[in-house]
Amino acid sequence: MTSEKGLKRYGRLYGSSMVMDTLYRQLERVAATDATVLLEGESGTGKELIAQSLHSASGRADQQFVAVNCGAIPDHLIEAALFGHEKGSFTGAVRQQTGYFEHASGGTLFLDEITEMPCDMQVKLLRVLESGSFHRVGGSEPVNVDVRLIAATNRSLLQSVQDGKLRQDLMYRLAVFPIRVPPLRERGQDIELLARHFLQELNTQAGTSKQFSHSAIDALRHYAWPGNVRELKNIVHRAYILSADLVHLDAPATSGAARMRLSNGTLSFPVGTPLADAQRELIMATLHHFSGNKRLTASALGISVKTLYNRLKEY
Ligand SMILES: Nc1ncnc2c1ncn2[C@@H]1O[C@H](COP(=O)(O)OP(=O)(O)OP(=O)(O)O)[C@@H](O)[C@H]1O
Ligand SMILES: [Mg+2]
Repeated sequence: MTSEKGLKRYGRLYGSSMVMDTLYRQLERVAATDATVLLEGESGTGKELIAQSLHSASGRADQQFVAVNCGAIPDHLIEAALFGHEKGSFTGAVRQQTGYFEHASGGTLFLDEITEMPCDMQVKLLRVLESGSFHRVGGSEPVNVDVRLIAATNRSLLQSVQDGKLRQDLMYRLAVFPIRVPPLRERGQDIELLARHFLQELNTQAGTSKQFSHSAIDALRHYAWPGNVRELKNIVHRAYILSADLVHLDAPATSGAARMRLSNGTLSFPVGTPLADAQRELIMATLHHFSGNKRLTASALGISVKTLYNRLKEY
């Protein structure tokens, strides 16, 4: 853990709050081991950044870090994507192909959105983790690889097990070292520190010296940040672009967000709210409602999962 100007960090992870301090200590302890880590935290809390930081702090740092989003791969392709396939194993398999496990050989494999993996694949994954080897689709020879596994979900683990989205036996196998990543609203003092850090990064990149206005800091403090650090980073970026020397967040950057109210599952905002703001808030509120489940969110909003991913990336 290092500290600069009161802002503590671990790898590329910043934050000085008590909860982050506890998190850094957990990460320091587990990084050097080969233990499987299971990250549980809301969307935008920094799970992927943590996985990367763990990899960089481990003895595997000079090998590959491979991130796989289990929710973004169609069910019928996931086995071949993870374990590879032999030539001719299915229509279109014109040559042998290695999968993510082999790509990550010697390094770290990050299985994101593990609860989106179909149940039969979860059984296969468990078997691979227990035996230490797997077969490529259509292959007869077992393949052995040395991979450190980190898995993540933005849903509640217990709820996922109860809902039948995550097999309990797989959860126990993955949760050798479980880590809960706290939402931004639980690290109040970090909001301003992170905002200043992101603004500083932008200033350094562009050779500017923009500062937040008083009302901007106020707006930061009074917002609930359902999209967590990702939302904060993007709002600062947008405000930076829109502002001159003094960076304002009250208008127009967070105006929509600040004026919109979420209560009892109903989102309300004034006539004349910019469409882009309304859309962003609706997407984030729906994602929150479905505990971060992107398939349910996309289906409720009537858009494809891919479109949802694109929007979230923008935000
Ligand atoms: N503590 C932090 N310090 C600096 N940047 C952070 C921190 N946490 C998150 N970020 C930044 O916020 C953004 C979102 O982080 P990340 O992608 O790791 O979240 P996530 O938990 O994986 O989200 P999702 O569940 O939606 O995939 C990234 O741009 C990341 O760099
Ligand atoms: Mg992620």
